Amino acid sequence: MAQALLVLDSIAAKSGIHFEYNPQLVGGAAIDAAGKALPAETIAACEASDAILFGSVGGPKWEHLPPNEQPERGALLPLRKHFGLFANLRPGICYPALTASSPVRPDLVEGGFDVLCVRELTGGLYFGQPKSRDTLPDGDIQVIDTMVYKKSEIVRIAHVAFKAAQLRGKHVTSVDKANVLTNSVLWRETMIEVAKEYTDVTLAHLYVDNAAMQLIKAPRSFDVLVTENLFGDILSDEMAMIAGSLGMLASASLGQPKGDGLYFGLFEPSGGTAPDIAGKGIANPIAQILSAALLLRFSLGLENEALAIENAVKNVIGDGLRTGDIFTSAPGTRLVNTAEMGAAIVAAL
Ligand code: IPM
Ligand code: MG
Repeated sequence: MAQALLVLDSIAAKSGIHFEYNPQLVGGAAIDAAGKALPAETIAACEASDAILFGSVGGPKWEHLPPNEQPERGALLPLRKHFGLFANLRPGICYPALTASSPVRPDLVEGGFDVLCVRELTGGLYFGQPKSRDTLPDGDIQVIDTMVYKKSEIVRIAHVAFKAAQLRGKHVTSVDKANVLTNSVLWRETMIEVAKEYTDVTLAHLYVDNAAMQLIKAPRSFDVLVTENLFGDILSDEMAMIAGSLGMLASASLGQPKGDGLYFGLFEPSGGTAPDIAGKGIANPIAQILSAALLLRFSLGLENEALAIENAVKNVIGDGLRTGDIFTSAPGTRLVNTAEMGAAIVAAL
């Protein structure tokens, strides 16, 4: 987050635009300081803002707490729900210079792996009721998570995917499990129905197991991938890894556009807190920095400034700078830490 703020400061200095920050605690830090993962002041500050730039939350220190009080279920999911952020956009791009960092065979990603994952974010198993854990009379334990979608929730995410595809490769792959789940049958029917409004976009369907396989087998065959909450969580990690690292995957979580065409949104790296390397100063700041770029684009309408950040990242990667997660000792590359990567991106702006 520190590096992302330096990048925004640099954008501000260059453009003369003034950004007003209101830093607030959330997740583990808020539990430690205020006793709860999502303090009322934090929600109030978010409500008074144009957008949320969110760091990663969670970690072993808080895993002993009841699930609803932990950083993920006590802060991140309620924030997504509170602000109606149903559309999660995750752009997975393998820069040409990062081909060697992808675990997938170079010839499969060369020439551009560039997928936009459109993940439904406020429905499905994450939020469906009932959700419970009970000890049965015979002593056995029974747990329930419920997968719920309304047609209207599928319709609105379908529009997001088709509109995004119109601005890209004009191809949508909808991922479901329609051979098993009632949810997915409605999902597929609805995608087919909404697609009729987008005659310039082609629609394909994949079962989620096959989608996981096709992503590895033919990563370049995807343009926009749209799917429900849990499938999107899983497939976007796979997509990030194909592109080189989870540390590269930014995300925008958006609601409906406001009257001015901009969105209130939450912008966060797609990965977690990486407790194994916490405090060492070696994490890849790029997902957070690219999330700040998405914030400029979607919440503030600063397209040129967003592009400037994205180009700076591309150039720094092209120059061979690598944090540990994307380092391969390929010729012309250099291992750097978090601050060095951030400074290089600021310098490249
Ligand atoms: C993500 C994360 C979250 C999710 C966790 C932290 C709750 O994995 O944004 O992908 O599952 O949505
Ligand atoms: Mg995830």
